[in-house]
Amino acid sequence: MTTHTIRVEPIGAEIQCREDQTVLDACLREGIWLPHACTHGTCGTCKAQILDGEVDLGDASPYALLESERDEGAALICVAQPRGDVVLEGEVDMDEGVGVHPVRDFRARVDSLDEIAPDVRRLVLALEEPMKFNPGQYVLLDVPGGHQRPYSIASTPADGSKIELHLKRSENGVATDGWVFRDLAAGDEVTLSGPYGRFSFRPLRTQPILLLGSGTGLAPLKSMIRHLDEDGGGGQQVTLYHGVATKDDLYDREYFEELEARADWFTYRPALSRDDWQGRSGRVPALLAEDYPRAGGHVAYICGSPDMVSDTMKALMKARLFPRDIYREDFFDSADRAAGTHVVRSPLIRR
Ligand SMILES: Cc1cc2nc3c(=O)[nH]c(=O)nc-3n(C[C@H](O)[C@H](O)[C@H](O)COP(=O)(O)OP(=O)(O)OC[C@H]3O[C@@H](n4cnc5c(N)ncnc54)[C@H](O)[C@@H]3O)c2cc1C
Ligand code: FES
Repeated sequence: MTTHTIRVEPIGAEIQCREDQTVLDACLREGIWLPHACTHGTCGTCKAQILDGEVDLGDASPYALLESERDEGAALICVAQPRGDVVLEGEVDMDEGVGVHPVRDFRARVDSLDEIAPDVRRLVLALEEPMKFNPGQYVLLDVPGGHQRPYSIASTPADGSKIELHLKRSENGVATDGWVFRDLAAGDEVTLSGPYGRFSFRPLRTQPILLLGSGTGLAPLKSMIRHLDEDGGGGQQVTLYHGVATKDDLYDREYFEELEARADWFTYRPALSRDDWQGRSGRVPALLAEDYPRAGGHVAYICGSPDMVSDTMKALMKARLFPRDIYREDFFDSADRAAGTHVVRSPLIRR
């Protein structure tokens, strides 16, 4: 396979990229941590300027990469492949204290696959080689038929040889309905790559922490909490909101209740949007607005459906928390891609 040289400015790093490989993939495998979020041409986070050379723009969503931006030489490097030597301008900006773990390919066996809530499964993969990652990052799981899907890691880096994922069934979804919820079983072999994503715990930030998740958006937050738990807490107060529809959807409740009972640094606030129960009812952004009319001085991590993430972000900004204190992971899927909403347009919004 032909390879080409990619030069990343302004740092001047040079790496090799195959013609069938995306520019982002080649960079991440060499530890050059360029901005990215969805890795499937949907969100626009990885947009970079091609200063010289030619790329195939690949499957870039027309909403995330406008015609005018294409004409001006921009590309979404998570889907763009080189067609010659390329010079691009990117923003390499990992925060201090955050480890950079080059992406690798992994083979794994399904250790267990359990129903933990209606239409939600916990998939534990035993990896042949341990993976190094930061709490909050995700993997790309290879799905039969040549597809790949991103899933956040719910376990901690302390044991990188077993990776826990939480998967929600999407009706007619290729990976979930068509595979994980149909014929995947314990003992099956799977392949994956990782770690990906900039949504990871920032160990040097000392403010009190708000962790805000909906549905399986709990996964990366659970990884952060378990990581802090292994460390005896990070010295800050940590408050977890987990928004789901009904009580049955509230998975891993026992673990968080048990942690809350023994750790004075942790508060658990489950929120049900449809059920009446003895606990709080309402969506996470509404409960947050009630509890935090002023949220300045916190650091927040939000994860879940793009609608929930956007609404929660708005609630936090209304409560005077600056975008620089908010980290977000949007679970974009094929429907979001087709709809073309939630594309990054403001430089203040970081993914
Ligand atoms: C960074 C990241 C991390 C993620 N982590 C998790 C996680 O930890 N847990 C989790 O459950 N999910 C996670 N997701 C979402 C996950 O990657 C998948 O998108 C999700 O599981 C659906 O995949 P699928 O193949 O089953 O469905 P898909 O085949 O992708 O379809 C999704 C839905 O879109 C509909 N659809 C498909 N094509 C179209 C179209 N052209 N127009 C309109 N509708 C269409 C389908 O019917 C289906 O309902 C994450 C996403 C991202 C970006
Ligand atoms: S990471 Fe490339 S478009 Fe989302």
